[in-house]
Amino acid sequence: METNNNISEELKSAVLEKIKPTEAERKKLLAVQEELASEVNEAARKLGVPGVFAKMVGSAARGTWLSGTHDIDVFISFPEETSRQELETRGLAIARHVARFSEHAEDRHAEHPYLNIIFKGYDVDLVPCFRVASACQLKSAVDRTPFHNEFVKARINGCEDDVLLMKQFMRGGGVYGSELRTRGFSGYLTELLVIHYGSFENTIKAACSWKPGEKIDIMQHAEIEHDEPLVMVDPTDPKRNVAAALSLDKFCMFIDHCREFLANPGIEFFFPEPPLPVEDSEILEKLNRRGTGQLAIVFKTPDVVEDVLYPQLYKMEEAASNLLKEHDFSMVKSGVWSGENESVLILELISNNLPNVKKHVGPPVWVESHAERFKARYEKEMKEKDGDVFAGYIENGKYVYEIRRKYTSAKEVLEKQLKNCSLGKHIQKSVKEGFEVLEDAGICRLKDPDFRVFLRKWL
Ligand code: UTP
Ligand code: MN
Repeated sequence: METNNNISEELKSAVLEKIKPTEAERKKLLAVQEELASEVNEAARKLGVPGVFAKMVGSAARGTWLSGTHDIDVFISFPEETSRQELETRGLAIARHVARFSEHAEDRHAEHPYLNIIFKGYDVDLVPCFRVASACQLKSAVDRTPFHNEFVKARINGCEDDVLLMKQFMRGGGVYGSELRTRGFSGYLTELLVIHYGSFENTIKAACSWKPGEKIDIMQHAEIEHDEPLVMVDPTDPKRNVAAALSLDKFCMFIDHCREFLANPGIEFFFPEPPLPVEDSEILEKLNRRGTGQLAIVFKTPDVVEDVLYPQLYKMEEAASNLLKEHDFSMVKSGVWSGENESVLILELISNNLPNVKKHVGPPVWVESHAERFKARYEKEMKEKDGDVFAGYIENGKYVYEIRRKYTSAKEVLEKQLKNCSLGKHIQKSVKEGFEVLEDAGICRLKDPDFRVFLRKWL
C-alpha cells in the first residue's frame, strides 16, 4: 500500500492525553489494589487457609489500562495440590469476606465460580486459581493468567504507551474485546502484538498485509496447528492460540481500519463520532429508497450475562435465516441488538412476500415407477377445481409441477415456525413466553435510542 503519511508524534500525544491515566489516577488505583491484596491475605489468615495469597493480574497490574476504565483483577492463589472442591468453597469464602466492604457483590461463573464486586467504585473480579508450576500444566483455564502477567511485565518495558494507543485504536475500530459479544482482540493479545512488532506504528503497518492464517510465535515453540484467522501462540503455553476468539470479520475490520488510518491518519480513528439515533421520518425514507423487506423479531431479554446471551442471539440469527431460506425467501442481511428489556433480531429480505406459485421438481421421467407415482398424484390434484396445483410439465428431463406455496409471507413463517427452531436455552424460553414480528415501517415502534443508533448503521 502506498503511503507518505507518517503517524505524527503530535497525533499520538493528543490521543495519549485523553487515555493515559494521570499520576493521581494511577496512585489511587495502586492504593485500592494494595488494599484489596491485604484484605485477601487477611481473610485467608482469619479463615485459616494456609498458603493462599492475592496476586494482581490484568492490565491494572501491568500499567496498560486506559484512563477511566476501572477494572481490577485480583487472583486468589491456592497451592497446586488443593482440590477443586476446596478451591471453590474456600476461594469463595475468602472473596465473600473481602466483599463485606463492597458496594455490590455478584456471583459469576466461568470454568469455576468467582465473585465480582464493586469496591470504592472499581469493578473488581476476585478469582480463585491454582498456583501451578507453568501455564501448560494448568488445572483450570484461569491459571494461565498470572503467567501472562509475568511475561508481559518482563517484555513491555517502554511500550506501555504503544499498548494504550493500540487498545484505543481498536476500540475506535469496534474490534477491541474478546467477549463472545464482540469476538475481537483481547487486552493480552494487543500487548503481545505490540511486543512482537515493537511499536504501535509497526503493528499497524504489518497488519495492512495480514491474511487469514497469519501466525505469530514469539517463543518459537508452537506444538499444534490452529485454523483461526490469526494465530498468536501463547508465549506461556505452546498449545494455546491467544487469538482463538477473534472472528474473521473482526480480523478483517482491523486490517481495514489500519489501512484507512495509514492513508490519512487522524484522531477520529481513535475517537469516532458517536452516531445519532435515527428518527421515524428518516427510517421511512430509507425503507422506501431500499425497497427491501424488513422483519424484526422482538422478545424479552433473558436475564443472563452477555457471554451467555450473545452466543444464543447469534445462534437464533442463524436458525431464523435458515428457516426463511428453506421457505424460498432470499436474505440480504441479518443482525441482533439487545437492550435491557427487549432484544431484537432484524432480518432484511429481498422481499417479505412471495407469489402463490411454487415450483416443485420431481423425479426424472426415466425412473419409471417412482416418476409415474409422482405424476399421478399431482395430475389428480390438478383436475380439482381451485386445487393447489396450477400446472405441470417436463423440464430438464424431470416432472415439474407448479403448486401452491404453504407460506407466502415471511412474517407468517416466523410466527408459525420460529418456536420449532433450534434455539439456545434462555432464548427458547423467552420466545415461548411470547414474541412479536414487526414488519417494514412497523419497526418504528422500537424507540430505544440505542436501538435507533444500531438501526442507523443498519439502514
Ligand atoms: P481482562 O479481560 O480484564 O483483560 O482479563 P486485560 O488484559 O486486563 O485488558 P483490559 O485493559 O481490562 O481490557 C484479565 C486477564 O485475564 C486473562 C489475561 O491474562 C488478561 O490479562 N484473559 C482474559 C485471558 O487469558 N483470556 C481472555 O479471554 C480474557
Ligand atoms: Mn482487566
